[in-house]
Amino acid sequence: MKIGIDKLGFYAPHLYVDMNDLAEARGIDPGKFTIGLGQDEMAVPPITQDPVSLAANAAEQILDREDKDAIDLVIFGTESGVDHSKSAAVYVHQLLGLNPKARSVEMKQACYGATAGIQMAKGHIALHPDKKVLILASDIARYGLNTPGESTQGAGAVAILVSAEPRLLELESESTYYTEDIMDFWRPVYSSTAFVDGKYSNEQYIAFFQKVWKDYQEQTGRSLEDFAAIAFHLPYTKMGWKALRTVIEDAPEAVQERLKNNYQISTKYNRNVGNIYTGSLYLSLISLLENQDDLKEGDTIGLYSYGSGAVGEFLSGKLQNGFKKHLQTASHQAMFDNRECISVAAYEKVFEEALPTDGSEKQLNVDEDPAKICLAGVKDHIRSYAVK
Ligand code: HMG
Repeated sequence: MKIGIDKLGFYAPHLYVDMNDLAEARGIDPGKFTIGLGQDEMAVPPITQDPVSLAANAAEQILDREDKDAIDLVIFGTESGVDHSKSAAVYVHQLLGLNPKARSVEMKQACYGATAGIQMAKGHIALHPDKKVLILASDIARYGLNTPGESTQGAGAVAILVSAEPRLLELESESTYYTEDIMDFWRPVYSSTAFVDGKYSNEQYIAFFQKVWKDYQEQTGRSLEDFAAIAFHLPYTKMGWKALRTVIEDAPEAVQERLKNNYQISTKYNRNVGNIYTGSLYLSLISLLENQDDLKEGDTIGLYSYGSGAVGEFLSGKLQNGFKKHLQTASHQAMFDNRECISVAAYEKVFEEALPTDGSEKQLNVDEDPAKICLAGVKDHIRSYAVK
């Protein structure tokens, strides 16, 4: 039986800031952001979007009634969840009208959460091939205004439907993974912004990639030649290339060219969204599949997942017959086209907006947000959502 990714959806908030404007406002040469980091635009979540609504918007576009009835496990990967106890999965389960006979849980390991969810989903589908698993990868990346991490913020969500006989990507059983307790990036429960040792985090991302890639080669006997493309977790789009270039010289010239070209294509959406933490790898996969016409059925795609703290994994999948018919290319393009560029001053104002934490009531103006599903307000410490 084949198990893998049947559908992929993506949602980013409708506001963004141009990285050239941000660089100018911070007195930095724009080339540092656009070339040095490889970021052109950064998604800015209005107060009416939180990780729950972002995820619900991403999933809403891909699920039909049959999917909703078959889903009996909802896994929400996030590191910016809205509650320490109640899982964001339960909110999304309700917002989407899923079958009540389901398990709903939240999963956390920095940007690795969704990959853990996918591996768990594979086991579940192996036992229950008639069911489907919905994985939500949703985050708001916040480092703070005027911090070195500011240029690597972002917001958005990816929804991944895992099933037997998948229409997009069969996930292969071989994968290699590695855990080591390091402090490269973390966010204590009392802080709304992340702490990071930037340079060290870059080094560890690469070191973990080298470890899991070496293990993968040893376990499978495969080499770079076996891959049509490799998608990476992208905290900023230069990062995956920094890792890939450390191993690419082992491959023949034509393979190097193919992987380099496909890497660039896999960064297209991320360049205009920024880091969405646990969804970033899967946004890169979507970018690759929706923008590279040369990919064919049977091609093998590698995936490198990295979550600070840290866990790394290299996994792979095979493109399925007719996969192109099941992509959401047009609707994702429309979403990008309809976004609004805001000034740095407007972004700073949005960034500083916060919900009350003393139990008082705040109703939000959801009419200003074109999203179908919005955070509508908070009262008595309870969030409410609007489905338009
Ligand atoms: P920084 O100190 O602002 O930047 O930190 P820099 O001085 O290292 O410069 C960045 C690049 O721009 C350099 O290129 C410069 O040469 C270049 P590199 O040498 O690295 O190839 N540059 C220029 N290029 C063209 N024209 C110019 C110019 N000026 C400089 N004029 C850093 C950058 C990413 C460290 C910072 O933004 C940060 O701390 N970000 C957050 C941490 C992060 O994203 N780490 C990535 C790996 S860890 C990870 O992926 C996990 C994560 O997603 C969290 C999770 O798992 O949940 C973060």
